[in-house]
Amino acid sequence: MIKKAVIPAAGFGTRFLPATKAQPKEMLPIIDTPTIQYVVQECVDSGIEDILIISGKGKRSIEDHFDRNIELEAHIQEQDETLYNQLRHIESMANIHFIRQKELNGLGDAIYHARFHCGNEAFAVLLGDTIIDSVIPVTQQLIDAYEQYHQSVIAVEEVPWDKVSRYGIVGGAPLNDRIMQINELVEKPSRDKAPSNLAIAGRYVLTPEIFEALEKTERGKNNEIQLTDALRIILKHENIVASTIEGKRYDIGNKLDFLKTTVEFALKRKEFAVPFEAFLRKTINDIDGKVKN
Ligand code: UTP
Repeated sequence: MIKKAVIPAAGFGTRFLPATKAQPKEMLPIIDTPTIQYVVQECVDSGIEDILIISGKGKRSIEDHFDRNIELEAHIQEQDETLYNQLRHIESMANIHFIRQKELNGLGDAIYHARFHCGNEAFAVLLGDTIIDSVIPVTQQLIDAYEQYHQSVIAVEEVPWDKVSRYGIVGGAPLNDRIMQINELVEKPSRDKAPSNLAIAGRYVLTPEIFEALEKTERGKNNEIQLTDALRIILKHENIVASTIEGKRYDIGNKLDFLKTTVEFALKRKEFAVPFEAFLRKTINDIDGKVKN
């Protein structure tokens, strides 16, 4: 049973500068909800209520977001009952703990900060800048695979072959149509060196052996402790499976994906779907008109 989740959210977010100069990318809202709230909701929907957020310099607003704001609540309660209930929901969603990563030494190092919190239990990892929209929460999909195979599970998704060099790629032998026994993990391979087009998708279930592996992991790409390198150490003496996600992944840390996410989520929201679709259609018609003229 997986009871704990770790959400790394300490990174610089350089791909989203200047917005992330003084504001965490994990707090960038998709319409009206900060990205990290979707991530916390995925944990809760997967049955996990004990969450450790890896925070850092300039990330105070994440803590404030999940804290109570009694003055604001009192002010809103008189005006808007629905909004008031939404605010109360945020602070009671889960048991959220924070630890600061004082130096940004990479994703592997961020996860190493969870060693005392997670102890000897397997735990879920959800990147704080990645939303996955799915019917069954992706973390739940990974927990199901963990319960079946009793091995660390890495969420993967198919990416176009000409984009494999942007991702961590797994290779191995399929166990069924969604699960693969991993025998290779390659960070950003060229197309001809990639063992598959299955890319690591920002969600994991990890056994506590990861902490020992992280201790042995040397600085890799960008002079950072990379989680993929630690997983490669584990692979030498332990099995790991990859689970192809059923869902759509949105990387909020990249500006174009952020825009696409906002559009897709707005089209799914009851109050915006009709006027926003009309706006998009008109915008595209106007563009088409200009192209023809
Ligand atoms: P990214 O690789 O997207 O990190 O991390 P980043 O450094 O913030 O982004 P860019 O490349 O500079 O734009 C994925 C997740 O891991 C966290 C990030 O906050 C993000 O949610 N992370 C990354 C940490 O917590 N600590 C780190 O040292 C690095």
